[in-house]
Amino acid sequence: MLKKNSSGAKLLARSESAVKDREERLRAILETAVEGIITIDERGIIESFNPASEKLFGYTASEVIGKNVSVLMSTPHREQHDGYLENYRRTGHARIIGIGRETFARKRDGTLFPIDLSVSEVKLSDRRLFTGFIRDITERKRLEKEILEISEREQRRIGQDLHDGLCQHLAGIEMLSHVLAQKIASISKEGSDRATEIAEAVRDAISQTRLLARGLSPVTLESEGLMSALAELAVNTEKIFRIRCSFDCPLVVKFDDHAAATHLFRIAQEAVSNAIKHGKAKNISIVLHADAEHLHLKVTDDGIGFPGDFKTSSGMGLRIMQSRIGMVGGNLTIEREPAGGTSVIFATPTTR
Ligand SMILES: Nc1ncnc2c1ncn2[C@@H]1O[C@H](COP(=O)(O)OP(=O)(O)O)[C@@H](O)[C@H]1O
Ligand SMILES: [Mg+2]
Repeated sequence: MLKKNSSGAKLLARSESAVKDREERLRAILETAVEGIITIDERGIIESFNPASEKLFGYTASEVIGKNVSVLMSTPHREQHDGYLENYRRTGHARIIGIGRETFARKRDGTLFPIDLSVSEVKLSDRRLFTGFIRDITERKRLEKEILEISEREQRRIGQDLHDGLCQHLAGIEMLSHVLAQKIASISKEGSDRATEIAEAVRDAISQTRLLARGLSPVTLESEGLMSALAELAVNTEKIFRIRCSFDCPLVVKFDDHAAATHLFRIAQEAVSNAIKHGKAKNISIVLHADAEHLHLKVTDDGIGFPGDFKTSSGMGLRIMQSRIGMVGGNLTIEREPAGGTSVIFATPTTR
């Protein structure tokens, strides 16, 4: 009897120490992780907040444990997070669990910063928890922006060099060839015809170089530059791809921010190119209009339609679109048209 009891006690002690061990290990992982790790309950109440989270958000764990996790969020998620949880409880449909996404978080002092967030669900015997893993991506975003700006600047520079340098040079050669043709016309008709051919070939090279230069530096510095660049995009798309591409701009839109105009143009250009390449569209429409506060753009196609949710697409083109719209402080969505096809809708404030 006595013997049995003492071995039972030993077993209990051993399993208690195993539990303690596991807890210690878990705590060590949470304490040393470089990612912010936060657990919430089913109602969104914060249950744990690791030291990396304290550093990221500027709150101490004791300040936020027991509070609703929405204090760490930015609008509109801040207002809607309870609704997301409620929706998940009811339908089992989660928009984030197991997917992860880029979003913004709010520090204690109110500043917003970009994060990579992934969420996993932990089912306990009697309830469930959600664990959020948070990485600060401020530096990555800054680099992305810088790379885009550098490439934009480089492209513009090459475009201008082509236009102002090479095109002028070629124009000189064209003229010289014409002069030569006239000069030798009385001596050799054949030689003169050849010189004229050269002049024509050079003329062709000039228009090709001009096109190239326009593509590299599409938006001119005039305030109507975006409008005319989009009109040209539509015309060239029809010419090159032999499909319908219309540009509608009911009223003259003036926009003085050249850098922002270039970003908007590039987004439209990528949307058009996706409509052709991925959507196999036969008709594309580009619409530009402005109201008191915003510039609105919409590129619609009649192609095969966007597969799935664009927010989770890992395509390079879409990521760059998102990055560009972020840079001009606007927003972008992609929708499936009820009749098939895709719409890329984006807007930006007219003053920043
Ligand atoms: N207009 C569209 N119609 C149909 N599918 C599209 C359209 N635009 C984008 N997609 C889908 O989104 C994916 C990613 O697009 P994107 O990021 O631009 O990639 P890529 O760099 O290959 O063009 C494409 O592979 C395609 O499946
Ligand atoms: Mg693309």
